[in-house]
Amino acid sequence: MIREGRCVAFPTETVYGLGADACNASAVRKIFRIKGRPADNPLIVHLWSLDQLPLVAVSVPVMFWILANRFMPGPLSVVLRKSAAIPDIVTAGLPTVGVRFPDHPVARALLKACRVPVVAPSANLSGRPSPTRAEHVLEDLDGRIPAVLDGGTCRIGLESTVVDLTSRVPTILRPGGVTREDLEDALGIHVRQARHTRKHPASPGMKYRHYSPSAEVILYEGTRKEVVAAMLRTLRQLGGKKRVGVMAEESLGRFFRGYPFFSFGLEGVSSAGQSLFAGFRSLDSAKVDVILCQGFSEADLGSALMNRLRRAATRRVRV
Ligand code: TXA
Ligand code: MG
Repeated sequence: MIREGRCVAFPTETVYGLGADACNASAVRKIFRIKGRPADNPLIVHLWSLDQLPLVAVSVPVMFWILANRFMPGPLSVVLRKSAAIPDIVTAGLPTVGVRFPDHPVARALLKACRVPVVAPSANLSGRPSPTRAEHVLEDLDGRIPAVLDGGTCRIGLESTVVDLTSRVPTILRPGGVTREDLEDALGIHVRQARHTRKHPASPGMKYRHYSPSAEVILYEGTRKEVVAAMLRTLRQLGGKKRVGVMAEESLGRFFRGYPFFSFGLEGVSSAGQSLFAGFRSLDSAKVDVILCQGFSEADLGSALMNRLRRAATRRVRV
């Protein structure tokens, strides 16, 4: 189907992607239409083998090979200078292109069989949480795409780290599964975390409200005890006027009996990262107006998780 210019959803270790032939501009146009994605938000090109790189990128710096050696295949996307073979629509007119080698066996098998570079944004409607199960893809895109390959639940659950290697200092545009510490350790130099504001987004995608459930999200940061106490205060203040759901680690569930509760599973940031987007979708289906959500420390995957949570949150409570 991809070789015929159609768009197919498939699993990766981060989130499900919606794939199309990167060298076929009319196939790529369909991706924007299907997702309702703004045309100024560039797509990441997915490859199966490093041999395909010269097709999509030029002037590749040594830093790329160091990162490739350590993290590829895996949850890392790298921004490089684009080749002429990549149509402008892929990069939203930018002279650079995002490239990623996913690690999921189904993604790799698909990319190998396609024998073309494949663009793949997350397979959700623009603005909705990224899909981490095939059912989430169908929730958003059933009737708009001919197929989704079902690979079960994504292992990481948050989108890849995006790092720009075209600037003088390597710069993280989006935190993800590969952390800043990982990158600095591999490269042996300082890696910058791009600050972004609404006016000056780090990458085009960062200016859009993202990752968001329909419900309002209140994010609580502090120790488990403080977070529970602050959530219970909010519940008292709301006094039953709004339908409230809670997202937190399993062990906190007992404080919120009677409320729709989405468990992040066992304690710890990787379990929360894996289930975050599923939680947003699940509490949206439960038709809550407000989601009270536990925050996490920024260590390891925590910076990626908190990046998504801060962007989804309408209010933050630090206790
Ligand atoms: O984990 C992932 O990266 C998933 C899976 C499917 O591979 N894909 C994904 O794609 O998250 P998408 O389109 O939802 O997010 C791509 C992000 C956007 O924020 C976009 O602005 C940024 O990468 N991006 C892509 N190309 C870029 C470029 N040339 N320069 C700067 N940012 C770029
Ligand atoms: Mg996305």
